[in-house]
Amino acid sequence: MNRLFISVEGIDGAGKSTHIAAMVEALRGSGHTVCQTREPGGTPLAEALREMVLHTPMDALTESLLIFAARRDHISQVIQPALARGAVVVCDRFTDATFAYQGGGHGFDLEVLSRLEQWVQVQPGSALLQPALTLWFDLPAQVAAQRLSGARIPDKFEAQPQAFFENVIAGYARRARLEPQRFVRIHADQPPDGVRAEVLAALRTRGLVTV
Ligand code: TYD
Repeated sequence: MNRLFISVEGIDGAGKSTHIAAMVEALRGSGHTVCQTREPGGTPLAEALREMVLHTPMDALTESLLIFAARRDHISQVIQPALARGAVVVCDRFTDATFAYQGGGHGFDLEVLSRLEQWVQVQPGSALLQPALTLWFDLPAQVAAQRLSGARIPDKFEAQPQAFFENVIAGYARRARLEPQRFVRIHADQPPDGVRAEVLAALRTRGLVTV
């Protein structure tokens, strides 16, 4: 069932949004029903928590608890029902973002995050709910900063210095090393056509698209 759960990750400015739209189109073109969603968010409660997390100063534990609370609601209200009816779930960020941003960026205790992950993502009688495929849009923090500069009013995370994003990248790299079969690293530092080709190749390899 979880074969159909895809997450998309990367630092701010990596270009996820454009390519998520193309992915969803390709999946639909291959006959799938797609549930496109995001974290933090995806339900009214989780979207309210997102507003707080993105705009209110708080410590890293509070932030992690709110994000996992949002995730809990999102999983039970949206992700699990969609997977149960056979839809492909395309989620803009999931738990790897918590390990990368709160763990890597803010240096928060990875053990505590692992315990929260176990609590929130446990499914009755079976394994941890995780995406089957995680597309990690990887590019240097400096390139992302150039892309974001002047684009819009930054939220709490986008306003962080480059060193923060270097630590976020290290956080993603750590997760990718732990689960190489789940992660596909997309070289996001290239023109959009090249990125799109890598994304579609990853979906094709997993038998998710035919285009
Ligand atoms: P993002 O997904 O980049 O959305 P948008 O493109 O609309 O700005 O923004 C979400 C922000 O939340 C991003 O800066 C990363 C942060 N975040 C965390 O810090 N931890 C998490 O677990 C998640 C899911 C997101």
